[in-house]
Amino acid sequence: MHCLTLTQPDDWHLHLRDGNLMASVVPATARSFARALVMPNLKPPITRVDQALAYRSRILAALPADTKFNPLMALYLTDNMPISEIAKLKNHSEVVAVKYYPAGATTNSDAGVSDLRKVWAVLEAMQQHDVPLLIHGEVTASSVDIFDREAMFIEHVLDPLLNEFPALRVVLEHITTEQAADYVAQSSARLAATITAHHLLMNRNELFVGGVRPHHYCLPILKRERHRQALLDAATSGSPKFFLGTDSAPHSQSSKESACGCAGMYTAPAAIELYAEAFEQRHALDKLEGFASFYGADFYGVPRNTHQISLVKHTWQMPEHCEFGEHQLIPLRAGQAIHWQQVTTHV
Ligand code: DOR
Ligand code: ZN
Repeated sequence: MHCLTLTQPDDWHLHLRDGNLMASVVPATARSFARALVMPNLKPPITRVDQALAYRSRILAALPADTKFNPLMALYLTDNMPISEIAKLKNHSEVVAVKYYPAGATTNSDAGVSDLRKVWAVLEAMQQHDVPLLIHGEVTASSVDIFDREAMFIEHVLDPLLNEFPALRVVLEHITTEQAADYVAQSSARLAATITAHHLLMNRNELFVGGVRPHHYCLPILKRERHRQALLDAATSGSPKFFLGTDSAPHSQSSKESACGCAGMYTAPAAIELYAEAFEQRHALDKLEGFASFYGADFYGVPRNTHQISLVKHTWQMPEHCEFGEHQLIPLRAGQAIHWQQVTTHV
């Protein structure tokens, strides 16, 4: 198949940052995706509905003219989020979820939840108002091996949480392990998962090809090949419990290439193309549309998109760097080949 046409996709997990940094990266996502669920881990974090709406307005204002893109927002759960914020969500369809970062788990998660018991009442309100909880699923104890943190989270945090809140809808974000894929597949429809392109395409060897590769460092960290294969199985299975979330996470070149480099890969400039590469590995391009364009919308209860995009099998070279406000940003595959290319968006 040399040409692939699919319903316009949505990105259900995206980092855009703010200000002129955000203005540099929004067009890359709006190029392909009709909607994106924008993560709230700014500094300070987006913890209130009015902050989320103001952030959304800034994103819309940064869009190039004639670009249609609908940013959907999530609130950042903290130990002291008032329950009243949850009730407000029914009047604001642009704010669709609440994100749970265990404190210390990742970039800008210091204000995250220190103990789930502190947010019990908020979770009850979310269950009552049917607001999905998005989870960064890693335990944070330094005694736990970094490669085991997701599996430990599922066993010790997620499973008990789902039992306590039997009607709460949950997205386990950016899953990276066989344990996560199996757990989600075996759970009821109220649990879903996003999968990134980078976790579908790379295993942990990519962190150390000829030396340390800071641009391949993200959280959850890349895992063994066995886990990558399990993610490919899940993504191409046709199950509506797995859908697209890039976790494209821009950091300046200097903050990545550092003695203590930031976590995150910037995949937005070739996101849909990278997913096409991954699905092609499994000869499963026919499964890409459901994963990229249908199942996320269905989970969030929003209409499926009606426009289409087309990709062709054509090799092009990712630029060495992109603009990022006054900084530079190194995209995934910088200076290297990408094997699909989006050619059109049409109505
Ligand atoms: O690699 C990551 N980068 N993982 C996250 O959970 C956060 C993200 C970011 O905001 O940079
Ligand atoms: Zn993320």
